[in-house]
Amino acid sequence: MQGLSLIAPAKINLYLEIIGARDDGYHELAMVMQSIDLADQIDIRANGTEHINVQCDNLAVPDDKTNLAYRAAELMKNTFPEDFTKFGGVDIKIHKHIPIAAGLAGGSTNAAAVLVGIDLLWKLGLTKIEIEELGATLGSDIPFCVAGGTAIATGRGEQLAEILGLDNIYIVLGKHRSLSVSTPWAYKTYRATYGDTYPQDKHSLEARASAVHSAPMIKAIVHKNAVEISQQLHNDLEKVVLPEFPKVLELRQAFAQAGALGTMMSGSGPSVFGICESFEHAETVKQQVRSLIPDEDLELFTTQTISQGIHLK
Ligand code: C5P
Repeated sequence: MQGLSLIAPAKINLYLEIIGARDDGYHELAMVMQSIDLADQIDIRANGTEHINVQCDNLAVPDDKTNLAYRAAELMKNTFPEDFTKFGGVDIKIHKHIPIAAGLAGGSTNAAAVLVGIDLLWKLGLTKIEIEELGATLGSDIPFCVAGGTAIATGRGEQLAEILGLDNIYIVLGKHRSLSVSTPWAYKTYRATYGDTYPQDKHSLEARASAVHSAPMIKAIVHKNAVEISQQLHNDLEKVVLPEFPKVLELRQAFAQAGALGTMMSGSGPSVFGICESFEHAETVKQQVRSLIPDEDLELFTTQTISQGIHLK
C-alpha cells in the first residue's frame, strides 16, 4: 500500500464540566463529546525517504513540529522504529475544512487520522484502544477523535465511554475567522476565577469526578430528543470566554434569537453551535444568524451529528 485518504471529523462538546485541578496541571473533566460531519481529508503516502512532510491547503496551518499531525507521525516513527526503517517517511496532505483554533478539535482529529493512517500503511494491526493510548500522549482530545461518535469523556478528556450513536441531529456552527481562543488561557483563567470551588483534596476530587453529572444529557441522547439535548447543554468554559470575547457572546445570543433549540460554545471556543430540528430549520437559523450578524468575518456551516470517528474515504 502506497497511500490512503482518511476522513477526520470535527467534534463539539454537548457537555463540559470542570471538576477540579489535577496533580499533572490538567483539569479533571466530565464531558459529552460528539462527532459532526464537518471534516478534513488527510492523504498519507509513503515517500521512501527518512522525512516526514506535512502540507496543508490552509496556509495558516503550520507545516512543522508545532502541527499535531507532524507530531503524530513522529510518535509512530519513535514507537515503531523498525517499521519506519522498513516503510520510510510519509507525506501528509491536509485538506482543511474545519475552522482552525476553534474548539472543534481540528488539530487533534488530523493527528488521530495520521495515527490511524500509519497503522494501516505499516500494517501494524494496532487495536483502536492502542491507537487511542498513543494519541492521549499527544493531546487530551485525540482518543475521542480516533473513536468518534458520542462518548462520555472523563479524566483529562482521554478516558472514554462510548454511548449510543446520535446520528442526524442538525447543527449550525458559527466561527469568526479572525477570532481564536487559547485553550491553556481559558483553563488558566477558569482556575484563577473558580479554583477555590474545586475539591481541595484528591479523595474528594475523585469522588466528585466519578459522579455522573452529565446523566440528564446522556438520558436525552439515549432518547435521541433534540429538544431535551438542547436543554441539557453545558460548558463551564463559557464563564470565562464569553465575558472576555463579546463577539462570542453576541453569536451565542444570535443563535438563541434565531430560534435554535439550544446553543452553546464548543470546547474553549470561539465556535458556537445551535441545535436544530431539521435541515430546513437549520437553514432558517443560519439565515437569521447571518442577518443578525452581517459580518463577513463570520463563517456559518450546516452540519449534522455522526457516529463515526476517523474512517477511510
Ligand atoms: O491536552 P491538550 O494539549 O489538548 O490540552 C491543551 C491545554 O488545555 C493544556 O495544556 C491545558 O492547559 C488545558 N487542559 C486542561 N485540562 C484538560 C485538558 C486541557 O487544563 N483536561
